[in-house]
Amino acid sequence: MPHKILRKRKLAHLVHDFVVEAPLVAEHAKPGHFIVVRLHEHGERIPLTIADVYPEEKAFRMIVRAVGKTTYELCMMKEGDEILDVVGPLGKPSEIEKYGRVLLIGGGVGIATLHPIAKALHEAGNEIISILGGRSAEYVIMQEEFKKFGEIVITTDDGTLGMKGVVTDAMEYLVKERGEKFDVAWAVGPTIMMKFAALKGKELGIPKVWVSLNPIMVDGTGMCGACRVTVGGEIKFACVDGPEFDGYQVEWDELMRRMTQYKKKEEEAFKRFLEKVGDVSWL
Ligand SMILES: Cc1cc2nc3c(=O)[nH]c(=O)nc-3n(C[C@H](O)[C@H](O)[C@H](O)COP(=O)(O)OP(=O)(O)OC[C@H]3O[C@@H](n4cnc5c(N)ncnc54)[C@H](O)[C@@H]3O)c2cc1C
Ligand code: FES
Repeated sequence: MPHKILRKRKLAHLVHDFVVEAPLVAEHAKPGHFIVVRLHEHGERIPLTIADVYPEEKAFRMIVRAVGKTTYELCMMKEGDEILDVVGPLGKPSEIEKYGRVLLIGGGVGIATLHPIAKALHEAGNEIISILGGRSAEYVIMQEEFKKFGEIVITTDDGTLGMKGVVTDAMEYLVKERGEKFDVAWAVGPTIMMKFAALKGKELGIPKVWVSLNPIMVDGTGMCGACRVTVGGEIKFACVDGPEFDGYQVEWDELMRRMTQYKKKEEEAFKRFLEKVGDVSWL
């Protein structure tokens, strides 16, 4: 059944916010779940996080950053267009409970993945501080939405908003300078950011840092092996055993190596796509 794009708005350069009709996803999604979409008959299947649900509209929200062929194609779609397949909700939901004081760390489009987790942790009665990081001011998305859950600390690489630096600088500031203590943390963003947030979390004595891994996924059901990761010395499949794992246990370097294995093919597909569609600077 095709899935209609009910609303779409641009959040930042190459970052778009969609509300998509999908009754089963709207009914069953929990924080931490994701979907796999295929835009059309010849499309590739890509995983995307369920950023929120709107049961009254039988719809869900996804926030997409255009990085290659399929995400560009998706971001070029308009309100009223239809997505061929939406499979999900997939994955294990986040472990939401009343922990006490929770630190949330989001980088780039990872802030969208963090949103339903923040909402659920807030509803469960946790005290939340969120660190939102981006390359520059424009990429620090969803600030107003996160303010509803507690204090936000912003970092930008170029200093155009908040602290100049990266999210681990804000972690140091909160724990070492302000003396904040946290019972648990979530870090979601680019793999390199999650790796260093986990290392910093350990150094600062935070008992656990959950991370949401984004390895290459194909079927999303544990059958193809594409999303294999090593966690605590054991082989796991991020699509069925995750995507959230204990960041202190993840073998980060192996994950980063595996994520670049199709780089050349992806670049070639993207180049062919750009030749076909022309100027995409407006996106
Ligand atoms: C559980 C999960 C949730 C995600 N949630 C979001 C989200 O909410 N918003 C968002 O913008 N992105 C999200 N991603 C990343 C998104 O799936 C990739 O950006 C997308 O697949 C890239 O496809 P492409 O054809 O546009 O780019 P390509 O040129 O094919 O690839 C660009 C890069 O994206 C990654 N990638 C490519 N294909 C896949 C694939 N099938 N599975 C996973 N990663 C891939 C690779 O690292 C690759 O180097 C998520 C990934 C995972 C695993
Ligand atoms: S995506 Fe195929 S096993 Fe996870």
